[in-house]
Amino acid sequence: MTEPRFAVVAEGLRKRYGGTEALAGLDLRVPAGTVHGLLGPNGAGKTTAVRILTTLARPDAGTARVAGHDVVREAVEVRRRIGLVGQHAAVDEVLGGRQNLVMFGRLHHLGARRARLRADELLERFRLTDAAAKPAGEYSGGMRRRLDLAASMILAPPVLFLDEPTTGLDPRSRGEVWDAIRDLVDGGTTVLLTTQYLEEADRLASGVSVIDQGRVIAEGTPDALKARLGGDRVEVVVDDPGALAAAAEIVGRVATGEVDVDAEALRVGAPVAGRAAALTEAVRALDEAGVAVADIGLRRPTLDEVFLSLTEKKEVAL
Ligand SMILES: Nc1ncnc2c1ncn2[C@@H]1O[C@H](COP(=O)(O)OP(=O)(O)O)[C@@H](O)[C@H]1O
Ligand SMILES: [Mg+2]
Repeated sequence: MTEPRFAVVAEGLRKRYGGTEALAGLDLRVPAGTVHGLLGPNGAGKTTAVRILTTLARPDAGTARVAGHDVVREAVEVRRRIGLVGQHAAVDEVLGGRQNLVMFGRLHHLGARRARLRADELLERFRLTDAAAKPAGEYSGGMRRRLDLAASMILAPPVLFLDEPTTGLDPRSRGEVWDAIRDLVDGGTTVLLTTQYLEEADRLASGVSVIDQGRVIAEGTPDALKARLGGDRVEVVVDDPGALAAAAEIVGRVATGEVDVDAEALRVGAPVAGRAAALTEAVRALDEAGVAVADIGLRRPTLDEVFLSLTEKKEVAL
């Protein structure tokens, strides 16, 4: 059998909990062998989508296929081909990392010898060999998440779901988990990960679906998404209110979108492409025009600004 081109295909998924519409017609396509990010704020419907795609919940309407099988009609086939790391994992705190993995292997019907071999392979792959005997309860946050990942990979599933894999981790642990996820994808696994962090999607995913209130409000590569949203911004603060107009005119020359002027803060800002080049050009032009600059810099939009901008666009479109 040939592998399907898309590891995940969802069409019009809907799910209601009482008065809350958790999913309001979610569409999703994840090409096999890629990392896809489901990016959205708290309550956007990310976990609900993952639960439906992993057969833990049934959609009220719509269809989804994972690894070529329908999540409702062929749930058993789907389960055989997926791994899931949820927000709370089922690792035994008292057992060592290796014992945990051997236990998961046995639960998945591996023989004792194969379970031990697989555990050692996975400990090595997720750089946990040195901590193999240590109780999982004594692991750092990053080690713990890597153990969760290893446990979900016992049967080497072709499609892996990660629900907010780095929420609550410090930056260093987050980096370790990112490395582990990259290794998985190099090995051919398709990963669907949910995240509240724009940076995480940017670092890991080749495709991103931004979701809000149970539906996709934007999608594309992280770069395309950032470019569409205006990407980086140049911001200039001038010394003298009289210089604001000149600064706005100069910033406008390098801008890819609307120039905002904040007269009270003496600040001019605008989205730009090509970070360093835009900044250099703005500095030179301001200097040539004799505009006294108190501060100038590049700033990345925050996730809040991204959502705000998308939500505003959505309202305009309606
Ligand atoms: N089992 C449930 N019972 C009632 N409401 C739920 C349940 N699961 C999710 N919801 C609601 O559905 C919406 C989407 O939740 P969720 O999928 O968990 O979002 P996310 O994972 O993006 O934070 C939220 O408003 C949440 O409160
Ligand atoms: Mg969630």
